[in-house]
Amino acid sequence: MSKTKVLKVRRKKGASRKILEAAGMLRSGNLVAFPTETVYGLGANALDRKAVRKIFRAKGRPANDPLIVHVASEAQVYTLVKGVPLSAKLLMEKFWPGPLTIVLRKSKAVPREVTAGLGTVAVRMPGNPIALALISAAGIPVAAPSANLFGKPSPTRARDVLDDLDGRISVLIDGGRTRIGIESTVIDMSGKTPVLLRPGNVTLEELESAIGKVKVHPLVRKNPGKNAGNAATRSPGMAYRHYAPLAEVVLVEGKAAKVREKIGALAKAMKGRAVVIRTAGKGKNEIAAGLFRLFREADRKGAQAIIVEGIDEKGLGLAVMNRIRRAAKRIVRV
Ligand code: TXA
Ligand code: MG
Repeated sequence: MSKTKVLKVRRKKGASRKILEAAGMLRSGNLVAFPTETVYGLGANALDRKAVRKIFRAKGRPANDPLIVHVASEAQVYTLVKGVPLSAKLLMEKFWPGPLTIVLRKSKAVPREVTAGLGTVAVRMPGNPIALALISAAGIPVAAPSANLFGKPSPTRARDVLDDLDGRISVLIDGGRTRIGIESTVIDMSGKTPVLLRPGNVTLEELESAIGKVKVHPLVRKNPGKNAGNAATRSPGMAYRHYAPLAEVVLVEGKAAKVREKIGALAKAMKGRAVVIRTAGKGKNEIAAGLFRLFREADRKGAQAIIVEGIDEKGLGLAVMNRIRRAAKRIVRV
């Protein structure tokens, strides 16, 4: 493929000429990377199986890992699913547009390439105005995973996307840094009980206050290397070690004072070849927003290890710890 065209868009509203150009590329079966409020997405026309296959090729993503379909209106959802249960409708009203992905039973309109052959489809209406303008200008639902090479940390800036995918995709819309920094919350509403498959900026507490008890998938709190197995079949993406920089990520958790001491000792033993990510004293929003950027920056510096201070799992902490665990080669409890 020829060079990736970068379109810089800073306008908050409306379909500018650049957004129309990118929308045209999507409509004609090309790949367009674009900012969302969570991370950058790599979009293709969700109804065009040839276009969708290009996503898997560009990312080197295994075909058994299904994609999220992005919409710009609730009406679009009804073409993609068999029906919307009342509780799912409640979630859409409360959290859309925003960082929440809802898994529902799929309709025939969705090609199996998108859902990896599952009977369900994941849908989300992103809150970023550029993303919304792009999807509505294209007039089609847009399948989009995070715009990184498979296994790498999700991109939070245009340069991260180019580092991974330059020359492999047609267009990149550069909309600056993404606000949230970690991927959307994924909740499965296709069965009797709602199941949290991936924690994110819409927290478990917020979900439960909207619709009552939500089951947390056992893999959410686990280090995937060890206990993936069959438990992962409901959301295949969860089976993979993920978000991993080249440097070895070491998570240190336990009582604050001991953690600090241990991190100091580890960093000293690494003689300046380790980057330490401190979380103490920072807000969880700030930690989430910077996490993947710090991973990528450590790699650019050629760090051998990234030592991360664990945080508690309340609120957004569940999502942050989920991402760190999935990136971690080693977990040290003190
Ligand atoms: O914030 C986000 O969600 C970003 C932006 C671009 O919207 N997208 C994103 O996509 O993170 P991706 O492909 O990197 O992660 C999608 C996750 C995977 O873990 C996948 O297994 C799960 O959603 N998923 C997709 N379809 C599913 C389905 N039908 N059932 C269960 N899980 C599904
Ligand atoms: Mg991803």
